[in-house]
Amino acid sequence: MTTPSVELKNVSLIFGDGDPRNENVTAVDNTSLEIPTGQFVAIVGPSGCGKTTILNMLAGLIKPTLGSVKRNGQEVEGPSRDIGYMLARSALSPWRTAKQNVELGLEIRGMTKQERSKKSLELLSQLRLEGFADSYPSMLSQGMQQRVAIARTLAIDPDLWLLDEPFGALDAQTRLTVQSEFISLWESNPGKTVIFVTHDLEEAVLLADRVIVMTARPGKIKSDTTVPIPRPRIVDELKFDPVFTETEHKIWKELRDELV
Ligand SMILES: Nc1ncnc2c1ncn2[C@@H]1O[C@H](COP(=O)(O)OP(=O)(O)O)[C@@H](O)[C@H]1O
Ligand SMILES: [Mg+2]
Repeated sequence: MTTPSVELKNVSLIFGDGDPRNENVTAVDNTSLEIPTGQFVAIVGPSGCGKTTILNMLAGLIKPTLGSVKRNGQEVEGPSRDIGYMLARSALSPWRTAKQNVELGLEIRGMTKQERSKKSLELLSQLRLEGFADSYPSMLSQGMQQRVAIARTLAIDPDLWLLDEPFGALDAQTRLTVQSEFISLWESNPGKTVIFVTHDLEEAVLLADRVIVMTARPGKIKSDTTVPIPRPRIVDELKFDPVFTETEHKIWKELRDELV
């Protein structure tokens, strides 16, 4: 048996001091989850069900109150270099160009100027932004800014990609374009594990191998569904595929009870 990329075992996260006289919030309740290396998993669930909290635990930013959180078989003790985390509101630095934004994490890691430049231009061109390397964020559309943020997250070449509602602020048309680019980027990088949090079920089914539905707070896993759609995926065509609609409908029935 190979070691999973991610393993949560009986994980609970309780915010507060644990003193029953004070207010404690159980954000994640006795949750177990295993994700093999190279899988693309989407997590959906109502607002406040603990999705961001799970990503924060995996990123080593907070520790579980109970249970264990492992990466490649090792207990997560703190932030790690092999994780790329794109926060729900990760803004670009306005005074850095697109290319300089992408290079941020590489500078911190002490990569030479030449290497940084090569890596960032490669990623920008994979996201069809080669002509905009020297543009400042204010000169880019929202969709382009999101693509730069993706490039910045992936520049360090992480094994595990954590993305928290990365496309939530984009209009429908732009979102479709950015989704297509993101999925081709992942499909051309075998072995990268993705945990993608979204409130958009359609997006989850279009992109992921597996969709996890969480219950309303306290968050637990309600259902775990494999998406039986082969790759490479053409996201703008897939919406009309009967297997896609069927899968989305099946998961929707699980999700809708949690949304009220
Ligand atoms: N630092 C914190 N202190 C207290 N409660 C928190 C804190 N962070 C999150 N919570 C609470 O934990 C629950 C889960 O939050 P979160 O993981 O952000 O949910 P989601 O990302 O699914 O919307 C929410 O009820 C939220 O209010
Ligand atoms: Mg959240």
